Amino acid sequence: MPEIYKNMYKEYGSVFAMSQLGAESLVLSDPRAFDSVLRAEGKYPIGAAESVDTFVNYYRENNITLGIKSTSHGPEWKEWRSQLNPEFSVAWKSYLPSIAKAASQISEVAMYEINAEKVKFEDLIRHSAFDMFYSVMYGKSPQTTNSAIAKPEDIEFVQSAKTAFDLTGVMLTNPLEKVFQTDTFQQFNLKMDKVVEFGNEKAFDYLRQVREDNGNVEMVTEDDGGKGSKCPVQALKNGSNSLLGRLVNKNVPDDELGTLTGPMLMAGVDTTAYVMSWLYLNLASNPNVQTKLANELKSVLNGADVTTADQMNSLPYLKACIRESHRLTPNSVANSKTLERDLDIAVDNKTYRAKTGTRIQLNLCAIPWDERYVDKPLEYRPERFMPDAIEARKGSPAEIIDHPWFNDGFGRGKRRCLGANVAKAFWRRG
Ligand code: HEM
Repeated sequence: MPEIYKNMYKEYGSVFAMSQLGAESLVLSDPRAFDSVLRAEGKYPIGAAESVDTFVNYYRENNITLGIKSTSHGPEWKEWRSQLNPEFSVAWKSYLPSIAKAASQISEVAMYEINAEKVKFEDLIRHSAFDMFYSVMYGKSPQTTNSAIAKPEDIEFVQSAKTAFDLTGVMLTNPLEKVFQTDTFQQFNLKMDKVVEFGNEKAFDYLRQVREDNGNVEMVTEDDGGKGSKCPVQALKNGSNSLLGRLVNKNVPDDELGTLTGPMLMAGVDTTAYVMSWLYLNLASNPNVQTKLANELKSVLNGADVTTADQMNSLPYLKACIRESHRLTPNSVANSKTLERDLDIAVDNKTYRAKTGTRIQLNLCAIPWDERYVDKPLEYRPERFMPDAIEARKGSPAEIIDHPWFNDGFGRGKRRCLGANVAKAFWRRG
């Protein structure tokens, strides 16, 4: 797929139209032109997740309320988003201690697990994403990265989420899978059922423990230095460091919490694992970069865990490694928005009228891979994103690669990924 985007950019230049299974798309390369689409966003913009029919259909057919709200674009979506934004996007720093503790536990076992062939590298990454994100949801890691401790039902969840994602790819390119209710379609539904059941069970277990068994739920809090507090009720009163604890405080009904957790865990696992895998691959293919990064981590952190945003900000080379990984190997080939009304889009002194419902994409394999803007664009060179290099290209055409649309793969505007801040905290743990 990236090759198609790269080649079409070479052949047709900075704007081209294409039809993907009947859906009309206009593909732009210039983020400034894409900004006009962002500016045209109304009160209820259409989210990219809405075009992933497999999930949308599953949520509708199984009446998964929060899934339906998250993949719609009316007042219901707004209500859902307003409820979760403060606890997720804004409160992300309060989850850092839980993430740090989960990441330390992962680091302790990772080398053994791989060398002893207990797990494949790609599964270790996936399990890491699950452990860290689960810690955000429940305040404590399930340690699926440690084969001596991992619970089969947790591993099964990760596998089910992965398979559902894989099958989605197959089903999106062949709508007949649904029409004929093929094996692929049945498998997808089965795996989604597992995801939802798992979320329900975990959420209800957690709520039961919090309400009935006051002394036994271990939570990691900022003021105990990440060691764990044994008082969930106190933690809830203080403003819990787990997402579920916070939502209970906001009186979100139990059944909504139940159906929220499976799909949310799922939204965070494969996506995060994918981005982390590219980062590790880029680092492994460039030993010099790896050494330089290890030196920065050693000298700045001196063996300490990263539990504050200040610590994260004191690691410019790590930040540059992540940013360069996104430039060279983005998690998706394009950012995408769907027009809510007709719009005139100016590109290279020409204006194109795009109709309501057209999907407008920003090609992430165009300018970021174009040697007119980036020196040796197919090489992984994090130095490009060190503060002095960014400063040096200000005012030149190359400055375009620092445009906010190219910073990360979470989208922008009102539908920006709900998990963006938390997910960024994950992989900066590196
Ligand atoms: C590296 C990891 C991730 C990537 C690359 C990613 C990427 C994206 C993208 C591109 C969108 C569509 C944005 C748009 O419509 O313009 C999105 C939406 C969303 N993401 Fe993520 N995501 C990641 C992790 C997570 C996590 C950890 C969660 C957990 C909460 C999450 C939950 C969501 C939700 C609920 C939406 C729909 C938001 C809405 O439409 O209002 N994502 N994500």
